[in-house]
Amino acid sequence: MEKFISVKDVTNIDDLVQKALAYKADRFKDKTLGANKRIGCLFLNPSMRTRLSTQIAAQNLGMEAIVFNVGSEGWSLEFEEGAIMNGTTVEHVKDAAPIMGAYFDILAIRTFPSLKNREEDYSEQYINQFIKYAGVPIVSLESATLHPLQSLTDVISITETFKEQRKPKVVLSWAPHVKPLPQCVANSFAQWMTAWGKADFVVTHPEGYELDEQFTKGATITTNQDEALKEADYIYVKNWSSYKEYGQILSTDQSWMLSNEKLKATNDAKVMHCLPVRRNVELSDEILDGPNSLVTREAANRVWAAQAVLAEILRS
Ligand code: CP
Repeated sequence: MEKFISVKDVTNIDDLVQKALAYKADRFKDKTLGANKRIGCLFLNPSMRTRLSTQIAAQNLGMEAIVFNVGSEGWSLEFEEGAIMNGTTVEHVKDAAPIMGAYFDILAIRTFPSLKNREEDYSEQYINQFIKYAGVPIVSLESATLHPLQSLTDVISITETFKEQRKPKVVLSWAPHVKPLPQCVANSFAQWMTAWGKADFVVTHPEGYELDEQFTKGATITTNQDEALKEADYIYVKNWSSYKEYGQILSTDQSWMLSNEKLKATNDAKVMHCLPVRRNVELSDEILDGPNSLVTREAANRVWAAQAVLAEILRS
């Protein structure tokens, strides 16, 4: 594996999932694989789970992990080619990235979208500039449009909890939120589910929240949440702002928030969320504190997902 930006960088999803589960069973089985190697974890935006799980994963492989909060502590980076830097940016990525590439064996980067300019966000300019100029493998810790480590974790969590000899029904269900959020987690989950092909995958959202078709092609899409939830085995709850009316909040309809009443139509569905979650806005206390919630297991599995990916990169 040369980089980890999307599911397209993975040759065999199930194989990667099994490697992650092997690390869950024995976290130190490759404790010298990353000896004398260093990973730089660059955060242009906040994080809790991704930051900690990636550091732990690297350390489990014997790597040194250094976190740099570029967004709050570093020089303000410029990403435009040919920019006349007479504004607020101080250092161009084409100067900074090769230096970081010289300091580190792997660079991992978190960058959120602006949600102002769809074309710019969906060009993945930030992460692509690091790929172009760093000269070392790049791992996405969530980019403008995708969150592949989260999605790998989600596939791991479904794989280890579903024991029946049939395809699970997995529903990605939009939820209300007070702020406009990126489409990254939803795009990425849809991309991984459709590439994985081991689930009957349904996406449900209010009118106007259609995701970019490049990620949902192959999924069943409906604006009828009740219909979508029928016989579901897993419900992945997530808010996202509109892709069509880019970055806008078009609905705050609280009837879209999952409740125990809605779970009655499902196959005792497990409920997933990437976290952080706004309680009683996106997801109810009764779900999050109840027996159907998978959210803590998912977050814990972030370590094994990151460890499997870093190991693949170290081996290649
Ligand atoms: N799910 C997730 O990426 O969490 P953090 O933003 O805390 O890293």
